Amino acid sequence: MNPLERIFVALDTTDIDRATALSRSLFGHVGGIKIGKEFFTANGPAGVHEVVHEGQPLFLDLKFHDIPNTVAGALQAVASINPKILNVHASGGAVMMRAAAKVVAEMENKPLLVAVTVLTSLADDDLVELGINVTAAEYVLTLAKLAQESGLGGVVCSPLEISAIREACGPDFKLIVPGVRPSWALKSDQKRVLTPKQAVSRGADYLVIGRPITGDEDPVAAARKICEEIALA
Ligand code: C5P
Repeated sequence: MNPLERIFVALDTTDIDRATALSRSLFGHVGGIKIGKEFFTANGPAGVHEVVHEGQPLFLDLKFHDIPNTVAGALQAVASINPKILNVHASGGAVMMRAAAKVVAEMENKPLLVAVTVLTSLADDDLVELGINVTAAEYVLTLAKLAQESGLGGVVCSPLEISAIREACGPDFKLIVPGVRPSWALKSDQKRVLTPKQAVSRGADYLVIGRPITGDEDPVAAARKICEEIALA
């Protein structure tokens, strides 16, 4: 995969004009864009159609988590947006993930369906509060393996989880990695970061990068610099 294809830019905004301007200027300079709940809740599928360029890969990060029938219906409902990557919460269980995988397999362009394992905002103590008495690192691996057994193609994971999941799930399981920071960018609220080059060297397939690109005064130049860095991995 060439370095450019690995980068999905997170457009974390409800502002459709800003999202459209960023998406247009970055077209051809990154692999695709990531749109999440913030934008989608404010602007819906029509807003996504406006922002996404014809032929621009889209990661629709809606993290579905519900009963199998509802998740399957929600995935069917977003099929017309033609995303390249979609996701659900692995903690919705194997039956839900299998139902999701079945719907996605029947979609025209067969998007990559990945799971969210443990939200990186949760630490070991938070899991204990939820009645889950294993460490977050262990739970991540349990959920990643369950996602793989349920027919999903990969997971979203933090940079520090890459090596363990790669080892547990093998070379073909796709790892989508946010929390990546080039050495020249601000970390902002991301704490446990790796650089793009380190993340790809450890086995990341796709990188989700927001502010280091969208917050730069020249987003295209920032994306280009990151591609050059990835090329050295
Ligand atoms: O601006 P920044 O590069 O931090 O954006 C990262 C993107 O990845 C955001 O859309 C954020 O919601 C998402 N994300 C994350 N950490 C996770 C999961 C998703 O930063 N564990």
